[in-house]
Amino acid sequence: MSDQPSLFDDIPDEPSEKQKQTGGVLAERVQELHKLLHEANHAYYVMDDPSIPDAQYDRLFHELKDIEAGSPEYFSPDSPTQRVGAAPLSQFEQVTHEVAMLSLDNAFNSDDLADFDKRLKKLVVLKEGVAEYACEPKLDGIAVSLLYESGILVRAATRGDGSVGENITQNIKTVSSIPLKLMGTGHPDVLEVRGEVYMPKAGFDAFNQRAIANDEKPFVNPRNAAAGSLRQLDSKITASRPLEFCCYSLGRVEGAEMPAKHSEILNQFSQWGFKTNPESKVVKGVEGLLEYYQQLEAKRNQLAYEIDGIVYKINDIELQQTLGFTGRAPRWAIARKFPAQEEMTLLEDVEFQVGRTGAVTPVARLTPVFVGGVTVSNATLHNMDEVERLNVCIGDTVIIRRAGDVIPQIVKVVMEKRPADAKAISLPELCPVCESHVERMEDEAVARCTGGLVCAAQRKEAIKHFASRKALDIDGLGDKIVEQLVDEEKIKSFLDLYRLKHDDIANLERMGDKSAQNLLAAIEASKNTTFAKFLYALGIREVGVATAQSLVNHFLDIRTLVKADFDALIEVEDVGPIVAKYILQFFSEPHNQEIIDGLLNIGIQWPAIEQKSEADQPLLGKTFVVTGTLSSMGRDQAKQYLQSLGAKVAGSVSAKTSGLIAGEKAGSKLTKAQDLGIDVFDEAALLDLLSAHGINHET
Ligand code: IVH
Repeated sequence: MSDQPSLFDDIPDEPSEKQKQTGGVLAERVQELHKLLHEANHAYYVMDDPSIPDAQYDRLFHELKDIEAGSPEYFSPDSPTQRVGAAPLSQFEQVTHEVAMLSLDNAFNSDDLADFDKRLKKLVVLKEGVAEYACEPKLDGIAVSLLYESGILVRAATRGDGSVGENITQNIKTVSSIPLKLMGTGHPDVLEVRGEVYMPKAGFDAFNQRAIANDEKPFVNPRNAAAGSLRQLDSKITASRPLEFCCYSLGRVEGAEMPAKHSEILNQFSQWGFKTNPESKVVKGVEGLLEYYQQLEAKRNQLAYEIDGIVYKINDIELQQTLGFTGRAPRWAIARKFPAQEEMTLLEDVEFQVGRTGAVTPVARLTPVFVGGVTVSNATLHNMDEVERLNVCIGDTVIIRRAGDVIPQIVKVVMEKRPADAKAISLPELCPVCESHVERMEDEAVARCTGGLVCAAQRKEAIKHFASRKALDIDGLGDKIVEQLVDEEKIKSFLDLYRLKHDDIANLERMGDKSAQNLLAAIEASKNTTFAKFLYALGIREVGVATAQSLVNHFLDIRTLVKADFDALIEVEDVGPIVAKYILQFFSEPHNQEIIDGLLNIGIQWPAIEQKSEADQPLLGKTFVVTGTLSSMGRDQAKQYLQSLGAKVAGSVSAKTSGLIAGEKAGSKLTKAQDLGIDVFDEAALLDLLSAHGINHET
């Protein structure tokens, strides 16, 4: 036991003498604090619409905590302070579900759905000939039962085997979207609400990133994350996990009439303070089922949480009761599953790929497997740390996960299936492309080929980068052409690009006279560029578009930049000691100096940059973030405009952000900016801001 008083110890049934004498005022304040905090929680976690500033919430919360610590008689199990977790348990108690928690039959295609609808019509006579269905996303978390007596949450349990689950009340109280006390009126004496506890995608990604950074084990998927977080004996751990709850059905009810339709029951739950799914919809007949599937499947990747399908339920409760159950599943509901996002396959081999900066990356070659809607035959293993973390060998059976548009990941090795001849994966000593030494710096996860531009792989990637849209933007110089030109040794450096002859190009696969002419013209046109694009095109490590622009703003011309020393470089916004070191290394390399001189000599040029006075930079010292889709311009264009007025443009929102430019479909950055109270500009406000400073963008 810890020295801290446990909030569960010695809870008096009766008010103490002290309370009776002096408690009147304090008791009222406790009531008031409960009310204020419950309302604020509901507004924030259920309605996604905060009602009071975070700081005020914190003040009220601590006031209540202090009262409870000093006078335990004011503690009650529905206190909002219970959200932070209570004393650890030694084990979970068992809970018997009075109404069994069933599972669902599955439908895997439209025919299965049509059969379901037909089956129903055979069993019951429908008023209008077509059935009314409630359609809901099938959340991929874990099912829980919440029991309320006289409106107070008294017990929460997992589904377990459907008839016996585990008592997880302490943990559930830490889930902020679950009411500890029902809102509104007309509560039944006993009410059992069922639903899913889940971890939204953003919380899952952030949790896993942190776990990997701390050498801890990440979760395989958001469902495991939810399950693992709820099965903690220490509820303080659960409290630290970003879990949410959404209700989807009624269990036991005593002492009140509930509405006659499932959709109305959910509305009632919403009034009592629960989160219901805004994607839920009532439809009619099999056409309605199919149409809802199309709509939700198209939306699946944009949802903030994982779903693995749709649950269709007969909306009329009386009909549900008539239809009843078969074994473990109701006849009145069905789950239409989406294509799986996780599959098992064999890791046949590992090859090492060499990137632009020489990074040597292990790539798994897999027996092709259909997962997340595509056939996957390769997956990156990122670096040797990841290989070690996964403890993966060649010959292993692995679980591949492809969720949404995210690149496929190997999330786990199925150890039971490891063959006796599984082969360890080791980093090659020599580069598989150029045979230069591969080295791995002590504090870096990434290993690198030391061959630089001698290495054909690095050369190819460097040239692709040089020609890319944000760099010199050479239209028509696609990846395949670069690869052929390097393989045939027509280009060894950026300079050779400008020495290419018509026939060098026209003789390549799938090229002809016309395309050769066009490409030569595009190469010629690329000579007129901007200083920032040129600098980015050089491919200096860690110098992306924004850093290149900061260097340009600071040094104005290339001669000053190449002569800058360490102290001058770290003066630049965005440039820290590591980046400064890379820049110095790059410019001190004779080979790079030759290339830069050569490029300038063959005529690469850009408009001179004039020193801007402070008056020309009205947004100097301000930092903006641009997010979402703008209809009148690209995000890059918006960034350039803001930078031309002296502002800095950052990639993520923090307390230092001066303003967020939020286009359509802005997501988590917008929420964060709102949480931090940062000014948000929509597209019209951005155009006004620009025009107030003399930039009139043509729409
Ligand atoms: S209704 C008798 N609705 O799916 C009806 N279940 O395979 C029981 N689930 O264990 C469940 N979203 O964890 C229902 N909107 C939803 C659901 C849902 C997810 C899960 C639930 C259950 C499993 C059934």
